[in-house]
Amino acid sequence: MQIPKDLIESAQTKISGLSNPADFYQLRSSFLGKNSHLTKLFSSLKDLPKDEKIAFAKELNSIKSGLEALFEDAFSNLSSKETSTNKNIDLTLPGINHGLGSLHPISIVTEKITSYFETNSYSVFFGNEVESDFYNFEALNFPANHPARQMHDTFYVEEDQSYLLRTHTSNTQIHAMMKYGAPLKMLSPGRVYRCDSDNTHLPMFTQVEGLVVDPSASFGKLKGTLINFLHHFFDDEMEVRFRPSFFPFTEPSAEVDIRFGKKGWLEVLGCGMVHPNVLKGCGINPAQYNGFAFGMGIERLAMLYFGVEDIRDFYNSDLEFLQQFRPSL
Ligand code: PHE
Repeated sequence: MQIPKDLIESAQTKISGLSNPADFYQLRSSFLGKNSHLTKLFSSLKDLPKDEKIAFAKELNSIKSGLEALFEDAFSNLSSKETSTNKNIDLTLPGINHGLGSLHPISIVTEKITSYFETNSYSVFFGNEVESDFYNFEALNFPANHPARQMHDTFYVEEDQSYLLRTHTSNTQIHAMMKYGAPLKMLSPGRVYRCDSDNTHLPMFTQVEGLVVDPSASFGKLKGTLINFLHHFFDDEMEVRFRPSFFPFTEPSAEVDIRFGKKGWLEVLGCGMVHPNVLKGCGINPAQYNGFAFGMGIERLAMLYFGVEDIRDFYNSDLEFLQQFRPSL
């Protein structure tokens, strides 16, 4: 077995010819790395007879320490060279502008809605996105196999359909009523999931739920609350109309439309008086308390507010699109 005598000299020559400091590690590893000639010689030690092995190992180790010392020196030379070049940096030059980030348009709208209701003394409550059938359906008066479940194209998490990605934020009504009882005034923004996708629907979108449980809660107060909110949100005293509708957990129920310029009547949210079965199931006496609830899709409101035509634009991560919503400084 031969040890190339000139290993150290050849390393020296290559180090002095190093024009780009970035190549340093590659050079070091060609002499000392896993695939270097030296490492191969070390692994061949095992095949030598014992007496030769000791002498050969000694020699290899001394070459190895020689190379290591050489590269260590070279490294400190390179770093000091870099620092001395750094001294030539002109500190008066303007810095590199990395640009300022901002909130996502959906976060901007969620924040706008949440802060309005917080000012009106609603508490904010966050619910679970992975939810049991009980909170998403059963406790909201959707019995198993009820046709109303068909309005929600559900992503089930478990084979036996006991857990799912919540289809609406109404699950938080149940959690909040069971946890805090009555009276209650709460708002709950968050993501919801439905098996649906086109230019106005996404499999994942955002809703805000509102719930008021109080002896004085009435349909009149529900109407007033929503009309005031919509006027505030759009900063426009637009016409608002309530159309009779159906949700299993509210009775009576309504869908709310706004008259939106040239677009005419547009549906923006669902609402109603909390069904007595729902209150009862949460341990609240429906003879003593009334409740009203409303739920709205934030992307829908954001599309109208910002004039976005395709809901998918919100989630394409296209910076040019998202930068339009940067706050002006
Ligand atoms: N959860 C309903 C939906 O997603 C909306 C709603 C909320 C309706 C609260 C009435 C009361 O369609």
